[in-house]
Amino acid sequence: MRDILQICEDGDWGDNGDRTPTHGVESVIEHGGILCFPNLRFELIDDERRLLDAGVADGSAKNISLRGPNDEVRGAAAVHADALRRMIQRYRVQATSLAERLFPHYRGRLKPGNPSYRPVGIEGRETSWRKDDTRLHVDAFPSNPMHGRRLLRVFHNLNPHGQPRSWRVGEPFEDFARRFLPAIPRPLPGSAALLHALHVTKSRRSPYDHYMLQLHDRVKADAAYQRDAPQQAIDFVPGTTWVVYSDQVLHAAMGGQFMMEQTFYLEPADLQTPASAPLAVLQRLLGRPLL
Ligand SMILES: [Fe+2]
Repeated sequence: MRDILQICEDGDWGDNGDRTPTHGVESVIEHGGILCFPNLRFELIDDERRLLDAGVADGSAKNISLRGPNDEVRGAAAVHADALRRMIQRYRVQATSLAERLFPHYRGRLKPGNPSYRPVGIEGRETSWRKDDTRLHVDAFPSNPMHGRRLLRVFHNLNPHGQPRSWRVGEPFEDFARRFLPAIPRPLPGSAALLHALHVTKSRRSPYDHYMLQLHDRVKADAAYQRDAPQQAIDFVPGTTWVVYSDQVLHAAMGGQFMMEQTFYLEPADLQTPASAPLAVLQRLLGRPLL
């Protein structure tokens, strides 16, 4: 198995000169690596430790997230909403300054998505196979077409009981795509317009999104692949921050509770190596444009 994890000793979120030595790492994540910062801790302040409780969620979703220009809090019990907003906003600020200093090539190009806090444990969560993130998958969303845009994610494990965030990580994207692509039919003519007209999708589903969703679903549905495909277990212990392109790295979240997450979107043309993007890989394997 390739060495997918690059350990970085940095202990600061912002730009602190000598104390922030990691650089030149665009190529690491663009080629499917994970940047792992075991010393980069998201500190809780005041009485935020009380938010390390699954009871702060309202039970409607697996995440508590901030939405819209006013950072409306979704998924939280009302009494905790203001404190959760402040905590998640602070994480967004720190994750943004981390991404800006780690990736000078992307500066000014990363678009932040909705940050989230995941206070509910993974184990025992009832869900359909398609939503079951304990199965290896790449991230792709049925209602939110990406049109080739990248999903760069900054995660942090906040667990106060020493429990790691346990992942399985799979083979390189191209190997995975080669395995599953031959069986995937082309999108049905007219289906993208119909899904958009019916408001199933927020914009027209591109052929790229069709293939990414099919890859997401087919790999989750394939029990033999889940069991036998090349993979490694990685434990992210509490206090660890990690950065990954989750549309590219096959991952499964096997255990853990209390995690922060900030997504950034990036146009594939803004990568240092656009040929490494899932869009470019799929276009090359299929021999046609997908946008
Ligand atoms: Fe995922």
